[in-house]
Amino acid sequence: MTDAQTAAERIAQLRSELDAHNYRYYVLDEPSVPDAEYDRLFRALKALEAEHPELVTPDSPTQRVGGAALSAFGEVRHEIPMLSLGNAFEETDLREFDRRVREGLELPAGDLLGHGGAPVEYSCEPKLDGLAVSLLYERGQLVRGATRGDGSTGEDITANVRTIRNVPLKLHGEGWPAVLEVRGEVYMSKAGFEALNAKAMETGGKTFANPRNAAAGSLRQLDSKITAGRPLEFCCYGIGRVEGAIAPSHTESLQTLKRWGLPISRELKKAQGVEQCLDYYRDIGARRASLAYEIDGVVFKVNDIGQQRELGFRAREPRWAIAHKFPASEELTELLDVEFQVGRTGAVTPVARLKPVQVAGVTVSNATLHNMDEVARLGVMIGDTVIVRRAGDVIPQIMQVVSERRPADARPVQVPTHCPVCGSEVERTQLVKRSKGRESFSAGAVYRCVGRLACQAQLKQAIIHFVSRRAMDIDGLGDKIVEQLVDKGLVASPADLYTLTYDQVFALDGFAEVSSQNLLASIADSRRPTLARFIFALGIPDVGEETAKLLARTLGRLERIARALPEVLTYLPDVGAEVAYEIHNFFEAEHNREVIAALLKNGIELQEEGDLHPEFAAYASLPDLLDKLNIPFVAATGARNLAERFGSLEAIVAADWLDLSALKGLNEKARKSVRDFFADLAKAAHARAIEAQLRDFGMHWESEKKAVEGLPLAGQSWVLTGSLEAMSRDLAKDKLEALGAKVAGSVSARTSGVVAGPGAGSKLAKASELGLKVLDEAQFLALLRGFGVEV
Ligand code: IVH
Repeated sequence: MTDAQTAAERIAQLRSELDAHNYRYYVLDEPSVPDAEYDRLFRALKALEAEHPELVTPDSPTQRVGGAALSAFGEVRHEIPMLSLGNAFEETDLREFDRRVREGLELPAGDLLGHGGAPVEYSCEPKLDGLAVSLLYERGQLVRGATRGDGSTGEDITANVRTIRNVPLKLHGEGWPAVLEVRGEVYMSKAGFEALNAKAMETGGKTFANPRNAAAGSLRQLDSKITAGRPLEFCCYGIGRVEGAIAPSHTESLQTLKRWGLPISRELKKAQGVEQCLDYYRDIGARRASLAYEIDGVVFKVNDIGQQRELGFRAREPRWAIAHKFPASEELTELLDVEFQVGRTGAVTPVARLKPVQVAGVTVSNATLHNMDEVARLGVMIGDTVIVRRAGDVIPQIMQVVSERRPADARPVQVPTHCPVCGSEVERTQLVKRSKGRESFSAGAVYRCVGRLACQAQLKQAIIHFVSRRAMDIDGLGDKIVEQLVDKGLVASPADLYTLTYDQVFALDGFAEVSSQNLLASIADSRRPTLARFIFALGIPDVGEETAKLLARTLGRLERIARALPEVLTYLPDVGAEVAYEIHNFFEAEHNREVIAALLKNGIELQEEGDLHPEFAAYASLPDLLDKLNIPFVAATGARNLAERFGSLEAIVAADWLDLSALKGLNEKARKSVRDFFADLAKAAHARAIEAQLRDFGMHWESEKKAVEGLPLAGQSWVLTGSLEAMSRDLAKDKLEALGAKVAGSVSARTSGVVAGPGAGSKLAKASELGLKVLDEAQFLALLRGFGVEV
């Protein structure tokens, strides 16, 4: 056996293993090996093929990467035309279709509704929203892929379809005809589409309006390398040119194709008669939102191939198949106006007022525009014709502007200078991206009404949030009641909820005796919130439930959270600089302090955990602290060098120019910057304040940790019990700590040793029970001396 033969065999084996895994993954939907194992086999094959380029064949799984770019697509004539389907929109359209089928097949008609008589067997499949393609296999090898084009002539997209992962380059098994043309849909899954758009956003590339457009744009690439990077998938739904029939029915044909490695729909089913077709339509319709891909309806086909032949075609549509469409989820309409809404944090956001239009069975007259950046991205003007889309229960969105239809009098969208609700000024804030204390400006801007709780819109939203289930959880205080309370001037801040009287509630619309009492009772019931709920209820921008829980758990007290410096907050896991500034600014603002004070005065009793959590009291280091100070031109390495040379913040603050000049590892610019930074008294004071607060909040210092690490009893926990003669217990504690040990108050399995003097009681008993090392005073003194400690 020559070397090349061995390689050839190994290559063949790897290819068949990879094909088998692909088949299980894409066609059977039962992955057989972890991705890592697949990747390993794939790399092995690539390496072997690189060594033996003469053994590379076009059907190798490595050949899906795309090839040289084309200047144009070639033409492909479809010997059997690629037809389209008739549509049914209403139930009656489908019944009518069934009636025509039965008539054509000369089956008994049944009653007027189509009930009774022999039911026709139909195959049912989802109607995928992608592009129709034809794949030609000769002797089991994929030789050509083509688009539908006008149905008679399409484009040659062989190089592109070869990059689609679930298109077999070679058919599996055996018994396939020498020539087999299959047809199906190339589409992009919802997840693939989202990922593609997310990547495009990041890299500033082109985003697509929907998965269908993304699939079309990806498939019609002259450079198949681009197609290879797009998450396209294929689903086979029919047969084109073939020598002889494959099976007597459509569903059996598809099952056969599946055995040959072609992916078919998991939702393929048979239905006996039109009623079962309607059941299928309703079932898929109900699951539409949770399917991994977009569909625009379902397709019913007379299942028996003989019956299909009998029925034949009319114009360009088969008489034996129909598409039962779901109501369209995208429609054209006109943007009548853009109004501005004020949210809980004062953010002024644009809302589109549309000429009412039916979208997927619902009248849509408003759509979200998110923010002014989105308005700019869409390039939308008032008067424009726009595409609106409604997906599931998501708020309708404007997807695109039909710019050709822009009227001459279209107006630009302008943010009001004053709040539409309270008339306060609208402040424009440049969006600032803060990362690790560094600020970088991004193009975006937010607009905020400065009215805060004096703005009725913000007040209402703030209270709706405050009383909500995951916040203070005040039952029976719905949005409408909040609106009344605010409109009647009874509530001007969340604190006012706790001073409402029976008479005031009773006077509200829709309140009687019992309901008034109930509402007051549930307000009273909310008086003892956990700290986490209370923090969340305050509605600090960017502080969701999780962050609120984290703050409560780690800092333990409202008072600490309220005075925490932003730099200190960033020591909490998952709190970035932006959130830290939001929290700090919130508690700095006088009006927020007043509301909190009023809440506490009006009877809120916080359930605080009190303790600082070890999650917070981790280790801080000087370089870390210097980094957070954000001294210009001093990056992480510079901070480390500074810390190493000076050892403490105090020493750096006190350093003069000579000391700094002697410091290598910091260039002239950085040294000057350090000098200027600490020469600024306010900045030096702020740095000291951060350090002091970290210590106050129980943060250990890295330097302390290092110092302890080298000591003989580092990592050990000791317990002192009973009395000692040679020294006090406090002194004994100091001596143990000087050796690196921690001294604890109680004995546990983790205790390293117990020093027991006369009078020791339960702690000694527990130590013996646990079999711990117990020293009497003499042994303890010997231990200390052994480490060179004077006693
Ligand atoms: S059968 C002769 N089945 O819908 C029958 N078409 O309007 C030809 N489509 O161009 C089509 N899913 O792109 C069929 N399960 C499915 C389908 C499907 C999507 C598309 C296909 C075709 C269009 C017909």
